[in-house]
Amino acid sequence: MPNLRELLHFYAEAGVDTPLEDVPVDRFAAVEPARAPAQTSAPAVATRAPAPQAERPQDASPNAAPASPALNKTSVPDDTKIAMARQLASSASTLEELRTQLAAFDGCNLKFTAKNLVFADGNPNAPIMFVGEAPGREEDLEGVPFIGRSGQLLDRMLAAIGLDRTGVYIANTIPWRPPGNRTPTPLETEICRPFFERQIELANPKLLVALGGPSAKALTHATEGILRLRGNWKVHRTVSGIEIPVMPTLHPAYLLRNSAQKRFAWRDFIAVKMQLRTLTQL
Ligand code: URA
Repeated sequence: MPNLRELLHFYAEAGVDTPLEDVPVDRFAAVEPARAPAQTSAPAVATRAPAPQAERPQDASPNAAPASPALNKTSVPDDTKIAMARQLASSASTLEELRTQLAAFDGCNLKFTAKNLVFADGNPNAPIMFVGEAPGREEDLEGVPFIGRSGQLLDRMLAAIGLDRTGVYIANTIPWRPPGNRTPTPLETEICRPFFERQIELANPKLLVALGGPSAKALTHATEGILRLRGNWKVHRTVSGIEIPVMPTLHPAYLLRNSAQKRFAWRDFIAVKMQLRTLTQL
C-alpha cells in the first residue's frame, strides 16, 4: 500500500489539492454496485466531477447565495448556461447586484470546487482597472483577488507608478479558482464572459490593464501571445459599444518566475501611467 504522505504529495503535484467532502467517495463503487465497499482510509481529493449541491464547500462561505435554476446539471447545454449568464449579468445595474447575480449563478463548474467567489478589490470608481486571469489558492481562501505572492508583486508595481489599491480597481476574467490552478478552459471563459464584461461596463474605467495572455485575449479577442501583445495599446469594446484602451502586460506570476522580463512590465507600467495622466487631466 503506498505511503499516504507520498500519495498526498503526488496528488498535490498533480494539482489535485482540494478536498470536496469530509469523507472519501468511491466513484467506482457508484458505477459498479457489485464492487466491494469503499475504503475509508484514503483521502477525499478533488475530481473534475461537481460535488452534489448540498455538499458544496462554498455553501458555508459568506459568498454563498441562492442557486440559479438547476444550471449545474451536466445535461444543461453550454449555450443555455451562456445565455443565462448573459441574462443575469445584463440585469445587474450596479456592481453589488452583479456580485449577487454571480454568487447565485450555478452555470460554471468552477464554482463547485472553489471555496469563495473572488469578485474584486480596490476602488470601483478608480479610472483604471486591472484584470487578471483567475484566482489562486490564497485568493480563493480569502475571496479577494491578487493577495498571494503575485498580488504582492502587483502592489509593488503599482507603488512604482504612484498607485495603490485605493486608486485602482482589480478583478479577474474568471471569479472562481480552477482546481490546482489549472488554466481555465475556453468554455469556462465564455460562460464567465458576460459577467466580466458587465463588471467592466459598470466600473466604467478610462483604462484597462490586462495582466497576462489569457486576460489580454479575453478582453481584446487578440490571438497573438502575450510577448507580442504586451506594450501595445489595444481596445476593449463593451457590450454597449464603448471603447476602452487596454494595455496588455506580463502577469506578475510570470514575472516571479522570469525576473529578467520585469523591465518590459516596467515599460508597460510607465506607458499606463502617462496615458492615465493624460486621460484624467482631460
Ligand atoms: N492570478 C490572477 O490572475 N488573479 C488573481 O487574483 C491571483 C493570481
